[in-house]
Amino acid sequence: MSTKSNPTTIAFFGATGGCANATLVHSLLAGYKVSALARTPSKLTSQLLEQGLSQETLDRQLTVIQGDATNVEDVKRTLLSNGKLVSIIVTGLGGKPVLQYSFRQPVTLDNPEICASSTDSILKALKEVSAEYSATTAHKPLLVYVSTTGISNGPEDVPFGFRFLYHIILAVPHEDKRKMESMLRLHMENPNESERLLRGVIGVRASLLSGGVDYKSGKGWKTLKVGTEEKPAVGYTIARADVGQWIFEELVKKDPGEWAGKVATLTS
Ligand SMILES: NC(=O)c1ccc[n+]([C@@H]2O[C@H](COP(=O)([O-])OP(=O)(O)OC[C@H]3O[C@@H](n4cnc5c(N)ncnc54)[C@H](OP(=O)(O)O)[C@@H]3O)[C@@H](O)[C@H]2O)c1
Repeated sequence: MSTKSNPTTIAFFGATGGCANATLVHSLLAGYKVSALARTPSKLTSQLLEQGLSQETLDRQLTVIQGDATNVEDVKRTLLSNGKLVSIIVTGLGGKPVLQYSFRQPVTLDNPEICASSTDSILKALKEVSAEYSATTAHKPLLVYVSTTGISNGPEDVPFGFRFLYHIILAVPHEDKRKMESMLRLHMENPNESERLLRGVIGVRASLLSGGVDYKSGKGWKTLKVGTEEKPAVGYTIARADVGQWIFEELVKKDPGEWAGKVATLTS
């Protein structure tokens, strides 16, 4: 937790979505100092107050930055907490599904490249911000992103009944997630460690999301089936609240624990 002896700070992107929102709520309740980028800050603060957080907690621990995740300057402001680069970045960014008249691609997104373009902005912003700080590993943040099953290079991670939905209907959002994952993988594969802007990247591939923005609406993170890219947990759905709580318990609190450099697959 965020104390003088353990000054972990967290930057959130996509926190008005249920997954990152639940991680944010758990982080605030545990006392961490966080920043969150939001296109509409009042939407985020209303969501937090409606879930029972006090205005005092928000005033003490949360800085909301109004902006867009594809704007490098807005992202830079989010990555700085009291003038210092944050220790952890959590992104649950995603586009809104839009139906289109296409047999091959009936579902697209309002921004079909939101995950890839925001990842590009985060890396560019990190490069600019990091230039002002020591390039030691200790000062580089850990990045945790929410992604999806159905894009694995390993064994099939989508149950049989959902394969048409995942591999045909959701091709556009999945291509965006693939690009995001590949950008981050390539970045971390840079053999020159001093050029890596992150000390670690952890992907969380969730099965079909259920529920809304309510951190209490899940079954509990300990009930989840958890796998890896090589040995995925295969299932149909998972509550957004559970994805967010799992990220908090396993990745934020343990930072990064056994998941460093890995991809987790989560389902109920
Ligand atoms: N739907 C599924 O079954 C499923 C399954 C697995 C994974 N996923 C993926 O998991 C992730 C988390 O999903 P979720 O349901 O928790 O969240 P979500 O409802 O998809 O929310 C997306 C978030 O991204 C924000 N956003 C989008 N464009 C932005 C921009 N240009 N600048 C700043 N913020 C922007 C939205 O903000 P606003 O409030 O301003 O719109 C919102 O906070 C998403 O990437 C989603 O695609 C989805």
